[in-house]
Amino acid sequence: MCAVWYLDPSQAVAAYRALVALPAAPRPRYAVKANAHPALLAALAAAGAHFAVVGEAELAALRVLGVPGARIACVTPGPPATLLRACRAAGVGWYAVDSPWEVRKLGALVPGAAALVVLALPPAGRLRYPTVRIGAGLADLDALLAAARAAPVELIGVQLHVGSQCERLAAWRRGVVLAALAWQRLCTAGWRPRVLNLGGGLPVSYRRPVPTPAAIARAIERAVARVFPVPPAELWWEPGRYIAAGAGVLAATVTRCEEGPRVVVQLDVGRYRGLPEAARGIRYAYLADGTGTPRPTVVAGPLGPRYDLLARRAWLPRLRAGERVWLPLAGAYTIVQTAYPATADVPVVLGPLPPLPAAR
Ligand SMILES: Cc1ncc(COP(=O)(O)O)c(C=O)c1O
Repeated sequence: MCAVWYLDPSQAVAAYRALVALPAAPRPRYAVKANAHPALLAALAAAGAHFAVVGEAELAALRVLGVPGARIACVTPGPPATLLRACRAAGVGWYAVDSPWEVRKLGALVPGAAALVVLALPPAGRLRYPTVRIGAGLADLDALLAAARAAPVELIGVQLHVGSQCERLAAWRRGVVLAALAWQRLCTAGWRPRVLNLGGGLPVSYRRPVPTPAAIARAIERAVARVFPVPPAELWWEPGRYIAAGAGVLAATVTRCEEGPRVVVQLDVGRYRGLPEAARGIRYAYLADGTGTPRPTVVAGPLGPRYDLLARRAWLPRLRAGERVWLPLAGAYTIVQTAYPATADVPVVLGPLPPLPAAR
């Protein structure tokens, strides 16, 4: 029995619709990088969703579905020229810039582009990033604004990202304060900004409760009311994880069990096979049937606990090789994450998600 990934696109549509229905919340755009499976994109496209892309493959997947460019934003501040050309050909609505170089590049390749200024924020999410800074600091804005005056681009607002799986409301409040300062600088430089894009970061409850989108939207609304003399005409956010996670369940198979002072269970999925975020701070829940009393168990991928640790202490019953371990909320940044696709190894089953063992 091999690992299987269950994907139910209707769950992503339900999560998207729940965000759309939230009162006084930013409008959602789906961040395609979280899960670019064609069936999930098709379901969201049919529901009228807007999309945020960071790569050519993501853009192409949307174009095949006939999503109009006006419903697509290119949100990476350092896109390759090939992506910018493809976006221009597709009529993509918005772009992102964070330096004078990027402003000039955008102006040269997409003359007349509408762009958001990406602001740098210290990542406050659970996901650990490499230490490459993305975005402009307030001190960098003068040079960026000077470049924009001389380039055929229109600065229409600011964009930030608090960090993926952000479980702290304070991070969004801090982001809004920084955005207001940058907004003021755009106004002083003669621009008429109208869009505040708060990026992704909406968290899901892998093991512990996390703030709900409604609570985060309220925190944003209050912060905007406090620091923006006139609120932005358009507020957006770009959840990837929140929309896609609940649409997927990963059924892993136990390949080896080690009894002893510490119990180790090895699975046929791991950091390098379907679960890249396990190495970057995401702690999945591991659920299994079984009658034995749950006990603390080290869970590892195919390379073993030393190189492929998934959980130091999951509560699992006694398991045998060949039995199933289930990972809920596995629809985002797992099997089809654009950077680490594992679809050749793990079959995908589309349709309603299977029933899961209870959490212990
Ligand atoms: C600009 C931007 N928007 C959206 C996202 C999606 O984030 P998440 O999946 O945490 O919602 C990211 C993630 O890195 C991002 O950088």
